[in-house]
Amino acid sequence: MSYTGPKVHIDLAQLAKNYQLVRNEVGNIPVMATVKANGYGHGAVEVSKVLEKEGVNYFAVFTLEEGIELRDAGITTDILVYSKLDPNRLSEAEAHNLTLNVSSFDDLQALKSHQGDSIKVHLKIDTGMTRLGVPLEQSEAFLQEANQIDGIEIEGLYSHFATADEGDLSYANNQLNKFNDVLTIAEKLGINPTFIHCSNSGAILNLPESRFNMVRVGMLLYGAFPSDEVPQDLPIKPVMTFTAPVVEIRDVKAGTPISYGGVYTTEKDTRIAVVQAGFADGVPRPWYVDGFVKFKDQNLKITGRICMDQLMIDVGSADIQYGDEVLIFGSNEHGTIDVNEIANTINSTSYVLVTAIGIRPKRIY
Ligand SMILES: Cc1ncc(COP(=O)(O)O)c(C=O)c1O
Repeated sequence: MSYTGPKVHIDLAQLAKNYQLVRNEVGNIPVMATVKANGYGHGAVEVSKVLEKEGVNYFAVFTLEEGIELRDAGITTDILVYSKLDPNRLSEAEAHNLTLNVSSFDDLQALKSHQGDSIKVHLKIDTGMTRLGVPLEQSEAFLQEANQIDGIEIEGLYSHFATADEGDLSYANNQLNKFNDVLTIAEKLGINPTFIHCSNSGAILNLPESRFNMVRVGMLLYGAFPSDEVPQDLPIKPVMTFTAPVVEIRDVKAGTPISYGGVYTTEKDTRIAVVQAGFADGVPRPWYVDGFVKFKDQNLKITGRICMDQLMIDVGSADIQYGDEVLIFGSNEHGTIDVNEIANTINSTSYVLVTAIGIRPKRIY
């Protein structure tokens, strides 16, 4: 059956290259690859298989389901589950050899009541993200209590930065100082986890002193920098290219309103093409104001609001026909549209854009 909808092309060789660049950047430090949210929209199973082959040391997902999906696909490397621990699913986690995030005293209670062999856990301290994690002031009591639980192995101790990808690193440094205080407390209590980690992509580049003995990398693997405020010397390249087909072309007169709300009208007689990809597929809706797609190195303006399933472009006299594919973002024979450029224009981030890819676009590896 032929397929004529939007496509997401995933360059797995580029993913492997990006991984090796990160590996090279951090030297011998173990790398935990973050493959949550379907591998940032790239396909968690396919991405993880490649990274496992490349020798990645650990994976991280957000939900238990994401971890189980990887296990069912044959991934054997360790997997950390970032989400809040679910006290009702400890046996399931254990059965799938998933490492759990432990980030509150409640979590410790649940682990105490659990009858099992040994669950690997990473203890999370909140140093300023104000999300999951025990506050610094309670970390000593937390570590002490965790250390007394029989059925767990404290394999990791970690925290998460809120601003490591920003030019002003004062808040991140403050978090790092707090994390170092936690490490002093752990040492005092005789707790020596194998993995100590708090570096995300931003911190790997902006705060090398925060790498400790594991880095938790996501975005760099997929080939985008977390922001414009990190050094961009690492020659990573985007893994994802998003394309969609032209399904209709018609002549319209000057002054013709296009799409919902009629907020765009043609300035002159032209040709308008309908492209089969909309915001439900992951085309960011606010991009219509300044946005364009590419065809044969030409920018073709998006005309009017992006619809759920389709968008319209002004193709003028371009040599384009029914069935041709246009580039929405990424790189191919038509040129390059950097996902970061779109993100910056619409005040969003590349994280939002790549994870917004819907379930309809066909992923081609
Ligand atoms: C706890 C945690 N660690 C690490 C990462 C990886 O971040 P990045 O993609 O910026 O490398 C994430 C992603 O949001 C995260 O939630």
